Amino acid sequence: MEGRINMSYIVAIDGPAGSGKGTITKLVAKDLGLVSIDTGMLYRCHALAVLKNNIDVSDEEKVEEILEKIDINLKNKNNRQSVFLNGEDVTDQIRTPEVTGIVSKTSSIFGVREKITRLERKIGYEWLKEGKNIIMEGRDITTVVFPEAKVKIYLDATPIERAKRRCRQNKRNGINQSFEEVLQSIMERDKNDMNKKVGALKKAPDAIYVDSSKSSVNKIKHKIIKIIKQKTKENRNEHYKKNIKSNS
Ligand code: DC
Repeated sequence: MEGRINMSYIVAIDGPAGSGKGTITKLVAKDLGLVSIDTGMLYRCHALAVLKNNIDVSDEEKVEEILEKIDINLKNKNNRQSVFLNGEDVTDQIRTPEVTGIVSKTSSIFGVREKITRLERKIGYEWLKEGKNIIMEGRDITTVVFPEAKVKIYLDATPIERAKRRCRQNKRNGINQSFEEVLQSIMERDKNDMNKKVGALKKAPDAIYVDSSKSSVNKIKHKIIKIIKQKTKENRNEHYKKNIKSNS
């Protein structure tokens, strides 16, 4: 099994809200046959549980404690990821403005991050053990969850471009929010996400920076696929060189 883990690889992608991580990750996963994992869904699912249980968001102890009492599970079927809270499919419920409004705060609590990081690693390793390659996206995947990932990417875009995208996404999901509200919420979340004491959103020194502001989804997808192919080829070459050295 260990050998299979070594041969499988992880692509880690971080970036701010609306940078296109979700869309790009799914498209890249489909083209390269990777398992895509959206870790924001785990934090959102926990935030939903906080709301469902009427927990005061400022009561950090209770916000953390609820994680001991609930079961969060991700399922991947036909390249679509669903999230389950205590066995109930809550994939649609985690995208409401109410969840979005508190998730930055709930996800900045140290104990919450610790537990969800553990869950992210467990999910990742389970797929690797099955011999699958994975692409995991979030805010701290390249820096905290899988700093050893073979490919690390930081996907960015300007706040205005990201707000435009979020508005289009909201419209598709039947969520009614003005552009100004969305932009305000994105800037607020950027501030919170980048200033977290643990797991803050930042570019890992060895992550490749990709700006998606002015490029089409298709162009960014191809750019990232090229990076993944190049990086995995480099890694394979290094692996063979090491093998030759240790056998000689
Ligand atoms: O990507 P998203 O908007 O669905 O993420 C929801 C929230 O979860 C976001 O405010 C930041 C947080 N998050 C995090 O702190 N770490 C991650 N790895 C993923 C998401």
